[in-house]
Amino acid sequence: MRVLGIETSCDETAAAVVTETGQVLSDVVKSQIALHAPYGGVVPEIASRDHARAVVPVIREALAGAGMGPDDVDGVAVTVRPGLLGALLVGLSAAKGLAWSTGKPLVGVDHLVGHLLAVFLQRGAEPGAVPEYPFVALLASGGHTALYRVDGPSIGAIRELGATRDDAAGEAFDKVAKLLGLGYPGGPVVDRLAAGGHAERAREALPRPMAGKTSLEFSFSGVKSAVARHVAGLGRPPEGEALADLCAAFQSTVVETLVEKTARAAREEGLTRVVLAGGVAANRGLRARMGEVCKKRGLSLFVPPIASCTDNAAMIAYVGAQRLVSGEVDGMDLSPSTKTALPRITKKGGGPR
Ligand code: KG4
Ligand code: ZN
Repeated sequence: MRVLGIETSCDETAAAVVTETGQVLSDVVKSQIALHAPYGGVVPEIASRDHARAVVPVIREALAGAGMGPDDVDGVAVTVRPGLLGALLVGLSAAKGLAWSTGKPLVGVDHLVGHLLAVFLQRGAEPGAVPEYPFVALLASGGHTALYRVDGPSIGAIRELGATRDDAAGEAFDKVAKLLGLGYPGGPVVDRLAAGGHAERAREALPRPMAGKTSLEFSFSGVKSAVARHVAGLGRPPEGEALADLCAAFQSTVVETLVEKTARAAREEGLTRVVLAGGVAANRGLRARMGEVCKKRGLSLFVPPIASCTDNAAMIAYVGAQRLVSGEVDGMDLSPSTKTALPRITKKGGGPR
């Protein structure tokens, strides 16, 4: 089965062709980062307009890359939630048009399920290591940060164990980068600067977020505010070594919490397999520290390649293929939503517990 996936939930226009076993036949991602960078974050109207311009060429490129025409696909999968409504509508309209004109089945996909199952994508000739179900997954991106227990590839088999009560981890990286005058998106820049800094030299400036022993929930607004206070105290962002040290301290604070809670979730669920997902999984500090801690605690860690962690349509096509294999299909009344379909247990905006 070869499924075309379409993704337009935020600031990437993406299309890909993937088989039900996860083999990636093509994968096209057109980023809008340069368009949003002057504003320091994603501007929804600019996102929708650029998706509208890009979606057809990106789909064409993905089909051509797989050596296929629209009639050769076995189904059309599209992100329908969560995301920016206008942005989602662009991909959904394109998917409906294609499915209608070719008579192929249409399936809607939850973007978060896409991230959680991206570990199953096979991008090279060599088969990559994939986990067996069930596993614990840490999903950390610009819009979401949560721990899940994943028992299978469908929504009903995925349970949230704890999520952030305020900012997502990637959002915290982006906001801190903005405070430090480092541009947008901040994650990669902070990651790079942190590699040359010494966390312990700036540690006292920052609290440990949600250090509570039992909760699997996260909170990153405190550490972000601490960076803001630190910068305000200095009168301007630090430079040189001091900047690298502050980036290192911020990153290690965030990474420690993510790693600690992921390992605790695995222990509480009695699971030994851990999966990383989402754009923040590109962070070198997180990858390294998660590796160390998992090794020490006898956990098997599965980290997808970076192209599978950041937003892409291959993960959407893969989840769509799983739905089609199970006999599920959506109708032309399929509509987008800003909210995930995964059950949520964390109270947003409640502050640290
Ligand atoms: O998954 P993703 O591509 O898009 C969303 O669904 O949000 O994640 C983007 C987020 C951004 O906040 C970006 O700053 C962060 O992932 N990110 C990183 C790194 N690379 C991307 N954060 C920390 N370190 C990185 N190397
Ligand atoms: Zn995402």
